[in-house]
Amino acid sequence: MSFFDFTAKDIGIDLGTANIVVTLKGKGIILREPSVVAIDQVSGDILATGNEAKEMLGRTPEKIKAICPMKNGAIADFTATSLMLKNIMKKINKEHAIGKPRIVVGVPSEITEVEEKAVQEAFFQSNAKEVYLVKEPLASAIGAGLNILAPEGQMVVDIGGGTTEIAVMSLGGIIAGKSIKAAGNAIDECIIKHLKKNAKISIGQTTAEKLKIELGSAENSVTEKTKEIRGMDIDTGLPKNETISSHLIEEAMKGPIQEIIEAIQSVMSEVPPELSADLVDNGIYLTGGGAMIKNLDNLIAQKTMQQTYIAETPLDCVALGTEKIVENLQKYARIL
Ligand SMILES: Nc1ncnc2c1ncn2[C@@H]1O[C@H](COP(=O)(O)OP(=O)(O)OP(=O)(O)O)[C@@H](O)[C@H]1O
Ligand SMILES: [Mg+2]
Repeated sequence: MSFFDFTAKDIGIDLGTANIVVTLKGKGIILREPSVVAIDQVSGDILATGNEAKEMLGRTPEKIKAICPMKNGAIADFTATSLMLKNIMKKINKEHAIGKPRIVVGVPSEITEVEEKAVQEAFFQSNAKEVYLVKEPLASAIGAGLNILAPEGQMVVDIGGGTTEIAVMSLGGIIAGKSIKAAGNAIDECIIKHLKKNAKISIGQTTAEKLKIELGSAENSVTEKTKEIRGMDIDTGLPKNETISSHLIEEAMKGPIQEIIEAIQSVMSEVPPELSADLVDNGIYLTGGGAMIKNLDNLIAQKTMQQTYIAETPLDCVALGTEKIVENLQKYARIL
């Protein structure tokens, strides 16, 4: 790094509903943590953020509140989000002395102006010098290695915790797109409901997410897997162990998966013919944690008749995209 390189400490952030991923210009990912914060209700102090706070979800006494302050990719609880971001910036500053950085933040494509202001304000309060917002599908496409500035159609489906964002892009703009709530959290909720009804057991979010990751699949699997879990018997109210089969989880996931497929088909039908032809060559890229749902790529390929690829590091695409943007703000100026 040269002595005159004043902008070396700029950062790129994916402010996700489920995970916050921070990159430092030229250094790649420097921090990754769940978007959860635990706050002392009496003093208002932060007790924990990230993994430590996630462990507390659903387990806190009255005095402590552990919350996910982001909902559907937007800021639901401004005070908690600000506190969380300040804490994250403090952590980063300790290790990397970023000072007053320029920040590029990946935000949901359907964010309102009020929410945009809230995101910017939260970062200014955490010592940012300049804050640029980029729409999540654009950032994730860049992070997946696509050249979104080229005059050709590229399609990305980013399946996050709060939203699935589908977009067809060309020349740095979104030509057709959709943001739906059928995504990771909604799938977890469906699993909770399905087990309550069909296995008479009540489980929490964390267990549902584990079941989704370990047993879940977008298509019926040939070999059945099982996992033993612990929850509450809904008849007796007492704790019980239960062996859950992959088939039960696959059934539970069907609804939201179907919604994702239909939304992809609907976006594809809105694309003008020239760009539609490009999609045949370029295929569909899946990003976000939901891209790792087993067999989802096969199912999408089958239902859309297009080649479907899972990005190399689906959880990091938005953050890596913001890093590329912050490295070259001039090149990407028109998408910010
Ligand atoms: N191996 C996996 N299989 C299925 N789902 C997974 C896997 N790994 C992570 N997920 C899910 O991915 C989601 C988180 O993805 P990601 O970090 O991309 O979301 P986010 O960017 O924080 O959310 P959003 O983009 O909606 O704001 C969670 O719902 C998580 O359960
Ligand atoms: Mg995301």
